[in-house]
Amino acid sequence: MPIRPILRMGDPRLLQASDPVKEFDSAFLEALVEDLVDTVHSVNGAGLAAPQIGILQQVVIFGGVEQSRYPDTDSVPFTVLVNPQIEVLSKETESFWEGCLSVPGMRGLVERPSHIRYSGFDQFGNAIEREAKGFHAIVVQHECDHLQGILYPMRMKSMSMFGFEEELSHHISPPPVAEGN
Ligand code: NI
Repeated sequence: MPIRPILRMGDPRLLQASDPVKEFDSAFLEALVEDLVDTVHSVNGAGLAAPQIGILQQVVIFGGVEQSRYPDTDSVPFTVLVNPQIEVLSKETESFWEGCLSVPGMRGLVERPSHIRYSGFDQFGNAIEREAKGFHAIVVQHECDHLQGILYPMRMKSMSMFGFEEELSHHISPPPVAEGN
């Protein structure tokens, strides 16, 4: 299946809420997941949401990539998550320097809940329910935000903590990424 162009911030489709998937184990969903996987692998990203390739359906993929650059982060299993729900389990938050394939070349510091439970389905309709902390929790929240039309700069508290990755790399230690570039 083809590698699809990734929409960039400014495209109004990235600001729309996606619709729930109604039919599982379909040819449409199989093709969509293949496109998401091929596209995210082509740019070595950590995750991708369907609206980023212009499909306004509640489907995200994440995990399964080497995170050895960030030894403090737990490894995240490769996951296809359809119609996700997130429940925050703790008031504690963590700040990560996030990136997004739809905001290429940039990083921003985003504070999010650090302990969540997420649930949903895989592409075949099998239920998924997991608890996640740290990097795993951040990636899931970042990807699921895309399904609500939210890009990470919209979550930032200070625009002074936003910049080009190339410049920031001279001034901060290697930032964890939520989505790769
Ligand atoms: Ni993103």
